[in-house]
Amino acid sequence: MNGIDQARALLDWHIVMGIDETIAEHPVDNFAPPKPVTTAASEALHDMAPATQMTQQAARPPASAAPVTVSPTTPPPSGEASVQSATELAAVAQTFDDLQAALTDFDGCALKKTATNMVFADGNPSGRVLFIGEAPGAEEDRQGKPFVGPSGRLLDKMLASIDLDRSQVLISNTVFWRPPGNRTPTTIEAAICLPFVQRMVELMMPEVIVPLGGPAAKSLLEQTTGIGKLRGRWFTYAAANLSSSIAATPLFHPAYLLRTPAQKRAAWRDLLMIRQHLNRADGA
Ligand code: URA
Repeated sequence: MNGIDQARALLDWHIVMGIDETIAEHPVDNFAPPKPVTTAASEALHDMAPATQMTQQAARPPASAAPVTVSPTTPPPSGEASVQSATELAAVAQTFDDLQAALTDFDGCALKKTATNMVFADGNPSGRVLFIGEAPGAEEDRQGKPFVGPSGRLLDKMLASIDLDRSQVLISNTVFWRPPGNRTPTTIEAAICLPFVQRMVELMMPEVIVPLGGPAAKSLLEQTTGIGKLRGRWFTYAAANLSSSIAATPLFHPAYLLRTPAQKRAAWRDLLMIRQHLNRADGA
């Protein structure tokens, strides 16, 4: 194998591992032990020494001053603490703008560290239907907007097929930052973001909630069965703070439909079910 083949094989391996994007100027070794940081005492001594005496010897702390190692980062809050803080922050949001601002300030979800942008929601907060996907992908991460990549284009066609567009619905995700390598969000990541999704539902009070794909159905409807068994059925989304329950029906995720076009027929039936539900509400 020559050098070019080796480099290509290495790049292929990175892609298989989900490392498909550069997110910083320099690589970060997350496995390296934290570097000890010099003590404030030694720095103060260093700062106070006149320039002429600033030899290595003079800058060293006296033997009696024990070096203090400070951790360069504060430890991340536990999952439980993050869920608690998300719940408190989301609860006080009175508008969509409040909710977006609260989420912008929220540091409890580790996905925020690796994402380029937060992806909140797109569409109409007063719309009739709320679509909740799994997680932002690469294009969504770049633009800070949900469903703008290939699956977003299919979702737009699915909406159009039942006379809907983004001005009549709201689109968001179970988590608001792209998981590295597009992996499925972990249960704890979804649990940490859930209070914001639940508050979004409360503020919007849509007529129908549509979880897109298994992970969204699991997070919103507390279901454990696969999407193949959940789609085509109606569920009731009922939360403590809701004045009334909301009809919910999971759909196959557009990304799955792109990979498995044979399932588009089933998805079309499910979309018609949603259209009929909206028509009935209109008295049509
Ligand atoms: N897939 C999702 O689940 N959400 C997006 O926003 C984009 C792709």
